[in-house]
Amino acid sequence: MTTLSIDIRRATRRDAEAIAAVHDRAWRLTYAGIIPHRVLTRMIGRRGPQWWANAIGRSATVLVLEIGGEIAGYATLGRNRARELRQAGEIYELYLSPEYQGIGLGRRLFESAREMLSAHGFEGVVVWALEENNAAISFYEGIGGRDAAEGVEVFDNKALRKIAFVWD
Ligand SMILES: CC(C)(COP(=O)(O)OP(=O)(O)OC[C@H]1O[C@@H](n2cnc3c(N)ncnc32)[C@H](O)[C@@H]1OP(=O)(O)O)[C@@H](O)C(=O)NCCC(=O)NCCS
Repeated sequence: MTTLSIDIRRATRRDAEAIAAVHDRAWRLTYAGIIPHRVLTRMIGRRGPQWWANAIGRSATVLVLEIGGEIAGYATLGRNRARELRQAGEIYELYLSPEYQGIGLGRRLFESAREMLSAHGFEGVVVWALEENNAAISFYEGIGGRDAAEGVEVFDNKALRKIAFVWD
């Protein structure tokens, strides 16, 4: 039996290409049929390796989950953007490559992101998920998130409802 090591760490510019690939595959699978095709393709196209290298180079915090040397997922995090919510931190994105979903890695990546926010003095976490993203909603409920607010995000002409989950 082979034992694969799991490592969650801050991304470096060298990870940009692998993160772009995870982003592409995870977003296509998650949002096909939810976000209109043309917008989704445009959004994914903008987030190539160069975009990620810039994001990592700026102060944006990007975490990667690496398994046996392969990038299996990423999270981006920072200050909570919604003034109406009192939690200080926010996980902006949390995505795993499709073949790594459903085996407990999302929970681990979430906990690491939360610990990093707390280590930077951000107490409490907010995460937004589109209401039609059933798996994400079940995931955030499953890991103890409290449904605290609703919003709307517009993609071209399609308005989609989103839910904020919070942890104190
Ligand atoms: C959402 C995502 C990050 C969850 O990570 P994951 O590794 O698949 O989830 P885990 O295996 O860690 O699950 C943790 C808990 O969440 C719940 N859960 C996860 N996926 C679920 C699903 N599809 N349906 C119901 N419950 C689910 C369970 O309670 C699970 O606890 P358990 O293992 O004790 O049963 C991952 O599936 C993913 O990247 N999905 C596509 C992208 C996405 O939607 N990201 C979130 C955008 S807001």
